[in-house]
Amino acid sequence: MSDFKQMKLDDPIETTARMESERGLAALSWAIISRGSLVDISDAERDLVDRSDHMCAGAIDGVVHAIQQGGDPLGDAFVRLRSARKRRPMGAVYTPPEIVDAMVGWIAARGQPARIVDPGSGSGRFAVKAGRTFRDASLVAVELDPLAALLCRANLTAAGLNGRARVVVGDYREADLGRCDGVTAFVGNPPYVRHHQIEPQWKQWLTSSAAGRGLPVSALAGMHIHFFLATLLHARPGDLGSFVTSAEWMDVNYGRLLREMLTDGLGGESVHVLAPEAIPFEGTATTASVICFRVGSEAPSVKMRRVEKVKDLSNLTRGRRIGKQRLRQEKRWSPLLTSAPPVPEGYVPLGELCRVHRGAVTGANATWITKANDPALPTRALFPAVTKARELFDSPDGVLLSFAGLRAVIDLPADLSELDDEERFQAERFLRLAEQNGARSSYVARHRNPWWSVGLRSPAPILATYMARRPPAFVRNFAGARNVNVAHGIYPRELLSGHLLNTLAASLRNGVSVALGRTYAGGLTKFEPSEMERIPVPNPDLLAELSQ
Ligand SMILES: C[S@@+](CC[C@H](N)C(=O)[O-])C[C@H]1O[C@@H](n2cnc3c(N)ncnc32)[C@H](O)[C@@H]1O
Repeated sequence: MSDFKQMKLDDPIETTARMESERGLAALSWAIISRGSLVDISDAERDLVDRSDHMCAGAIDGVVHAIQQGGDPLGDAFVRLRSARKRRPMGAVYTPPEIVDAMVGWIAARGQPARIVDPGSGSGRFAVKAGRTFRDASLVAVELDPLAALLCRANLTAAGLNGRARVVVGDYREADLGRCDGVTAFVGNPPYVRHHQIEPQWKQWLTSSAAGRGLPVSALAGMHIHFFLATLLHARPGDLGSFVTSAEWMDVNYGRLLREMLTDGLGGESVHVLAPEAIPFEGTATTASVICFRVGSEAPSVKMRRVEKVKDLSNLTRGRRIGKQRLRQEKRWSPLLTSAPPVPEGYVPLGELCRVHRGAVTGANATWITKANDPALPTRALFPAVTKARELFDSPDGVLLSFAGLRAVIDLPADLSELDDEERFQAERFLRLAEQNGARSSYVARHRNPWWSVGLRSPAPILATYMARRPPAFVRNFAGARNVNVAHGIYPRELLSGHLLNTLAASLRNGVSVALGRTYAGGLTKFEPSEMERIPVPNPDLLAELSQ
């Protein structure tokens, strides 16, 4: 063990020097830790301390003072010394104080927890802030990186919190947090590590732990998702949590595990997504989200909002309530963040009457779209379709009466034995050519079974464009054309008569402005299906009245 008693602790120049190497930081941290009670360090930390250049730890008083004033000079030095590239495999990105304050403030507004757990504590920004806020709470910081753990111990000691703190050096997923009779508040910034850097043993842990809870799982989930699941496993009903993490989980397939946890056992209370321009984490380009939860809560809704600036996070009780039932049905959550248009008296969101579906994605339009009567293909595999938005914008009076001018999508049956000999010959000749042109190796083709089956939906009675510098065109599809993904299809949930559909299409044409969609640079406005489903339309009674 190092003999730090011999150190000279009053030299500010030495302190600056310590901040310029990881070994120096370890020495400086140990000098601070030695003043308190968190000295019972792990073997990995001891190893670092022993290897550290500890001839002198410098004048720690200045560092201790800075910590007592609310700074994190040790954490700042760590981030400076270890490049972003080196920190990436551990997902080590430290949280700015405004975000830490807002999240701890959210917990404070809910009472006094008996214990704070800071998972992946880094230098302990959350543990220290929470320790100062909750004067009777015990503190548990869990950190895998021994140097970060030393910084955390030093911070807790300098802040005078060491007497009620414990630093666990190990993996949060299997950490023993000990018992707590009161409410535990989990607060922190789970490491963002992509799945290909996660060892198979932990992927297996994720799969079996999620399955044990009946939750859907994907091996593509990153470490932040592992931390949420670990929290659910560590927590008891009534425990609180506030985590800041990236926001991609809202829309990607592997994020479904977290989405389901929030609508179920983890008890999501609110989700706040920071606009990408806010860039709260230096050196990273990810969109951030702050997620607040109360384990086991059965509240029927989750508050959700988009936040333009970090300072707007200060009140984490804000947001628009979205029913958990609805959230369970949505595959992507970020479209729900755009504020819903007010629904006037007598109107309902389109989604109550109809589902809006994207058009088919062929994977290679040059292969799968051809002229309407292509003689080289079986007639029954040719489906006249809207393949250009212009075909809808140009439909006179918002009505598509015939297939004239439309091209066709080639949608062969999954089982080619359904075709007669001549048709089969044509189909096989086409598929050989398509394969030669690379159509089989496209991402979309590789993910469908069989690779040639485009899988068109039935004709939608109303078709809508969804991306343009003008409001969408809503067109009554009397022709029965199919559509690729240049247009959405609007399908009534229950049978609607032709009259009602005409009135509905007319109402959409007259009532929709670009303000209801999402506008991108250059004024391009896009309506995702879920955004289109929020457009107010007359309710069935009013539709019937207007149809007279
Ligand atoms: C995003 S940083 C957050 C640091 C600190 N909580 C903050 O917000 O300033 C994530 C931290 O988790 C640690 N970490 C990574 N994997 C871990 C694991 N499996 N168990 C515990 N900690 C881990 C990293 O070393 C890093 O310090």
